[in-house]
Amino acid sequence: QEKAEKFTIGFAQCTNGDDWRKAMLEGMEKELSFHPEVRLLMKDARDNSELQVRQIRELLAAHVDLLIISPNEAQPITPVVEEVFNQGIPVIIVDRRTTSKLYTAYVGGDNHQIGHTAGLYVGELLQKKGRVLEVTGTPSASAASDRHQAFAATLKNYPNIDLVASMNGDWEQAFVTQRLPDVLETHPNIDLIFAQNDRMALGVYQVCKAMGLDKRIKIVGVDGLSGPKGGLQFVEDGLFKATILYPTGGEEAIRTALKVLHQEPYGKENILGTMVIDSTNVHILKQQTEKIIDQRQDIQQQQLRIEQQNRIYSSQQTVLYILGAS
Ligand code: FRU
Repeated sequence: QEKAEKFTIGFAQCTNGDDWRKAMLEGMEKELSFHPEVRLLMKDARDNSELQVRQIRELLAAHVDLLIISPNEAQPITPVVEEVFNQGIPVIIVDRRTTSKLYTAYVGGDNHQIGHTAGLYVGELLQKKGRVLEVTGTPSASAASDRHQAFAATLKNYPNIDLVASMNGDWEQAFVTQRLPDVLETHPNIDLIFAQNDRMALGVYQVCKAMGLDKRIKIVGVDGLSGPKGGLQFVEDGLFKATILYPTGGEEAIRTALKVLHQEPYGKENILGTMVIDSTNVHILKQQTEKIIDQRQDIQQQQLRIEQQNRIYSSQQTVLYILGAS
């Protein structure tokens, strides 16, 4: 049997500190478990662009065969990614983008589509009339600026909907609970808050509850993760009106990387779909995602068993060899 070629994939992750990123990594690891000859070297930049640039240089020094990167912010990360690409190392961009066309492939959601979908849903939910506040991720990240641009543009089609303000929540619940109370003091009578991810949407809910506004203000998030702290649960429990699904694309990123490394045909833009999750479909979606998680665990179990069998088999081979040799 032909021996598979060994590869090292470098992964420059903008942060690994939240459940969405952890789900992405799990997806990658699941896909990689079928390819033991491929090693993943991940660096966690903890939301820091300077650190991410340094880590990309470390991955270069480690002679990675391909780089997967989720750029923390678009502008500061662009030059080094171009440099890697120009050195002939394939670059797969996931989730957030640089400002450059110099990359091998993109895998992830379309953040314009996310903002647009949110805008349409909000417009109809409010019956075309009301005051809206947006809580964005770090504005210099492409996911935040794309979502904002498309959300604002879509709401412009509703003349009686006022996008009152956009507040930066830097992607995290804690920043929202710090910053939102002042914004709500300045802008009273808000009907709906669109938070660009579910972690911030949870912060929005906590602030609204503390201010006695939770019955009045409707909340829409993004991501739609499963699990007890995921958006699906909060939609099911009625804390959020809806969340817009933003798939992590971990599996797809690895699959694309392997095609590139094996010089098989691949697509440059691999856009993952989205959908609105609200009370009308959250049940079925939760069931489906739980099923997938179960199946993933089954796969892991089976792989463990195969490994055990292989170990037993190779030790038996050794015994046979020794017997044969003597
Ligand atoms: C995870 C995250 C998600 C969000 C994405 C945007 O780190 O903050 O919640 O959808 O990044 O890039």
